[in-house]
Amino acid sequence: MSTHISVPPQLLLERILTLEIVRVTERAAVSAARLRGHGNEKAADQAAVDAMRRELNKLPIEGTVVIGEGERDEAPMLYIGEKVGMNAGPQVDIAVDPLEGTTLCAKNMPGAIATMAMADGGTLLHAPDVYMQKIAVGPGYAKGVVELDASPADNVRRLAKAKGVDLSAITVLVLDRPRHSDIIQGVRGTGAAVRLITDGDVAGVIHCADPDNTGVDMYIGTGGAPEGVLAAAALRCIGGQMQCRLILDSEEKRERASKMGVADPRMIYGVEDMIRGDCLFAATGVTTGSLLSGVKFRKDVIETETVVMRSVTGTVRYIKADHRQLEKFHLD
Ligand code: FBP
Repeated sequence: MSTHISVPPQLLLERILTLEIVRVTERAAVSAARLRGHGNEKAADQAAVDAMRRELNKLPIEGTVVIGEGERDEAPMLYIGEKVGMNAGPQVDIAVDPLEGTTLCAKNMPGAIATMAMADGGTLLHAPDVYMQKIAVGPGYAKGVVELDASPADNVRRLAKAKGVDLSAITVLVLDRPRHSDIIQGVRGTGAAVRLITDGDVAGVIHCADPDNTGVDMYIGTGGAPEGVLAAAALRCIGGQMQCRLILDSEEKRERASKMGVADPRMIYGVEDMIRGDCLFAATGVTTGSLLSGVKFRKDVIETETVVMRSVTGTVRYIKADHRQLEKFHLD
């Protein structure tokens, strides 16, 4: 007697796609890694974009890029609105950052990653490629424990109280930019510590989800909106809170955003506003950082490390892969 197990097709596909998207970020990471330390951000980014697009087009999906390399007229590939996939399978929204930390890769510094997220069609925030104010903390706190419009000092005090620790036990991660001098001063003024990064705030936000291991409790600052949505996708899977606001400081930006469906230019988005359903998130290390090891080119093997997450179960997998069919990778 045969046993028939019935699995809803959507769920099954989603599970399969969890591993399929690993291939996408792996290939983008390997392509970018070939150009580590060459001082050419554009070339490294282009290599990652080309590889990611090739792999996305092999997936059994009807995909639409909603967070991409830019808007149609400024990005030849993986632009916002571009259709990807085999045009068969579930309709999905896709957010990509084929090379997050182009400067890190060009200078061969820690922390460059290739990353993407995937969700049911119509459930990811469609955002233009503008700046975004962001604040994030990890899981386990009451909703609204920190707030985008509260001062950095206030947020440190609220978080320390909620965590039950002294102010000096809190560490806030901030992108090292002149525009953040008030944030840095405000945090330090409380006795809390600031950890500065030169680039890469997707990984920066993810660090907040595991403060015991990363030593980071909170992320505050302004970075790219695409990176904000990708980080939100990761938090949707692993837990944590984020509040973000698009910086639409010109009529032209407000118009672009409005065309993408942003009705209120001052809206504060939480994780659930940016990712309105279940999602998958993956990132592969390009250069070794505190989240992931970078690509290693051995004589007969290319090694990659990827983290892949699925919100429906909250499962987080770290996948170390040895790629042996090197001729495939020589296409990149
Ligand atoms: P790129 O990979 O596009 O260079 O982005 C790196 C990054 O550091 C992001 O992580 C961050 O959101 C953004 O740049 C900050 O923008 P800026 O460098 O203009 O301050």
